[in-house]
Amino acid sequence: MLRTSVLRLVGRTGASRLPVLEDFGPRYYSSDSLSARDDARDARAYFTTPIFYVNAAPHIGHLYSALLADALCRHRRLRGPKTAATRFSTGTDEHGLKIQQAAAAAGLTPTELCDRVSEHFQQLFQEAGISCTDFIRTTEARHRVAVQHFWGVLKSRGLLYKGVYEGWYCASDECFLPEAKVTRQPGPLGDSFPVSLESGHPVSWTKEENYIFRLSQFREPLQRWLRSNPQAITPEPFHHVVLQWLDEELPDLSVSRRSSHLHWGIPVPGDDSQTIYVWLDALVNYLTVIGYPNAEFKSWWPATSHIIGKDILKFHAIYWPAFLLGAGMSPPQRIYVHSHWTVCGQKMSKSLGNVVDPRTCLNRYTVDGFRYFLLRQGVPNWDCDYYDEKVVKLLNSELADALGGLLNRCTAKRINPSETYPAFCTTCFPSEPGLVGPSVRAQAEDYALVSSVATLPKQVADHYDNFQIYKALEAVSSCVRQTNGFVQRHAPWKLNWESPVDAPWLGTVLHVALECLRVFGTLLQPVTPSLADKLLSRLGVSASERNLGELYFLPRFYGHPCPFEGRRLGPETGLLFPRLDQSRTWLVKAHRT
Ligand code: MSP
Repeated sequence: MLRTSVLRLVGRTGASRLPVLEDFGPRYYSSDSLSARDDARDARAYFTTPIFYVNAAPHIGHLYSALLADALCRHRRLRGPKTAATRFSTGTDEHGLKIQQAAAAAGLTPTELCDRVSEHFQQLFQEAGISCTDFIRTTEARHRVAVQHFWGVLKSRGLLYKGVYEGWYCASDECFLPEAKVTRQPGPLGDSFPVSLESGHPVSWTKEENYIFRLSQFREPLQRWLRSNPQAITPEPFHHVVLQWLDEELPDLSVSRRSSHLHWGIPVPGDDSQTIYVWLDALVNYLTVIGYPNAEFKSWWPATSHIIGKDILKFHAIYWPAFLLGAGMSPPQRIYVHSHWTVCGQKMSKSLGNVVDPRTCLNRYTVDGFRYFLLRQGVPNWDCDYYDEKVVKLLNSELADALGGLLNRCTAKRINPSETYPAFCTTCFPSEPGLVGPSVRAQAEDYALVSSVATLPKQVADHYDNFQIYKALEAVSSCVRQTNGFVQRHAPWKLNWESPVDAPWLGTVLHVALECLRVFGTLLQPVTPSLADKLLSRLGVSASERNLGELYFLPRFYGHPCPFEGRRLGPETGLLFPRLDQSRTWLVKAHRT
């Protein structure tokens, strides 16, 4: 509605049009231009994280997977009421040999281990502000129903047959490996043992009669799907890798294990001597959550975005779409892939004793601080290295000093004694650059700032779409620096509210800086929800004014009324982000050799 009235106003007054997110591409037209059908399709979005193994406590890599999904989902919700129907699921993967073995090693029953560790994940996600709408455990009865139904569909379509499978099995990765993917690793006694070339985890030789899925039939359909949906797997290098895998032969896949060997799982319907392969079981969780096999699931499928780590790409980009196609369903709409966190250059592992506990980090750096760190530093295309000094440095410089300092400079009583959003003076800052006149105070760099912040929401949206959230945060951070430069350049602390010459310009400088802060606060909501709330509340921005669809930056500059002008700021609630103490004892020190 607001948009329509603004446009009418533009027609009447001849003022320049306000740039909003929706102006920058058809993807973001959420109102007039969409047909009812597009609306309905666009209205639903279903985000998923992988479901997490319960053989060990969560680490920062798991939290990172969940945070990426959370930020994508929150960003999507902010795009406005018409696209706000989102669903976001996460959960725990509780069946399989790996869990069966971990429980035995811990002297627990599998159920005890699953309950304990699943609870741990749930608590972590709650503390970290993961805004999931669903949490699934694969040991739930509803999931068994979904998996067995899915199995029945594959069977009825002639895609399962019985055969002897002989080859390597890696219990840690829960996957079968061809000879070429196995190598030998020297053991402690000068012997050697076989391990997976990719993960380094031990493998064992298995020969069993199993149910086998006709995966080989799906090589061409998968290639067609990927070629006609170039954005199906993002970032692009992962899409490319999957296509390369599909250039090679795609053997059929064993999808069950002998129950005498693997009892902790879902039995094959009608054949209790076999247990369903844990990856088939796990992948179906995405359907269970949305009500499968009841027809209600169709309103969410395939409007699905899976967020996954690179280690489980083959399962999500080959096996899962093949199972779905086999069952007569569409593959998921998007698969977003991220890389891994290492610690001091090494893979995180219990045996190396370098696992970083995410709850300790959340306590130490605050929830918003640690969320910001992981999402700002995590690059989906490459592995990233963790150490504590990096966190402290980044948070102090970007959240405490740059953003917090900027807010403080514009709201401190000393500079803004009336504690309001001051008026913008169009003669001091005319919308046309290059004008000269006695009251014109804006300089070329100030126009550059306005242009950067005006295009920031669109830039951020594009980065989210390309799964480059770190770039979105980099762009925000760069605009924060530019805004600090603007304030520094015009030194409002040297201007005098009592002077009729200074006052309109002083108000304008603060108005522009507050407008920039309002945009930053709005855009940071998906990543640092509490900090953004604190910032926007301090600016006096109400809950209904925080959506991306209605993010009109600096309307006065474009000749429109600004609802914030003259409004009282919200109450002062202390530092936005208190600086972290550099001398704290480290959890993980930087690796220096
Ligand atoms: N249970 C399977 C997923 C089944 S989904 C149908 C699984 N679980 S996992 O617990 O091993 O991994 C869950 C997610 O955490 C994966 O996306 C994985 O890539 C991610 N990570 C595990 N270690 C990681 C890092 N060191 N860094 C970043 N992400 C990491 O796989």
